[in-house]
Amino acid sequence: MIRIMFVCLGNICRSPMAEFVLKDLVKKQNLESEFYISSSATSSEEIGNGVHYGTIRKLNQEKIPVEDRVAKKLKKEDYDKYDYIIGMEKSNIINILRIIGNDKNQKVYRLLDFTNNPRDIADPWYTGNFDKAYEEILEGCKALIKKINLSK
Ligand code: 4NP
Repeated sequence: MIRIMFVCLGNICRSPMAEFVLKDLVKKQNLESEFYISSSATSSEEIGNGVHYGTIRKLNQEKIPVEDRVAKKLKKEDYDKYDYIIGMEKSNIINILRIIGNDKNQKVYRLLDFTNNPRDIADPWYTGNFDKAYEEILEGCKALIKKINLSK
């Protein structure tokens, strides 16, 4: 079982989008039983709130199932519970490290660092561009599956 925790600032836009995109990809590859996938926030701002409408609308458009869920915060104990802790941008990585402390087992990554074009995923909460966030998250999730398959 490979355990993956996606992390962003608020856990209402990008990290739930990544959670549902990866769940959909692994389901389509019949790999569901091999993965446990979740998402969380580094800030307390949106804790308890549902997925952002922009994320829901984009995932509906792509026919990707969206679960009923509320935002939760990343916990220090999550470090031992997950194999990959994946942020969306550099500032997330800094905030993740503040919560978990030392990344002693090298589990913390930025999503697009799995691709050939490493970069941040801009926050659609500010940009309003959920299409771009989706394309980049899909690119990152595909690259992540490739990496996991290669290291099996
Ligand atoms: P996310 O977007 O990190 O992709 O979920 C944000 C959502 C909420 C806030 C910031 C970013 N906020 O400041 O409340």
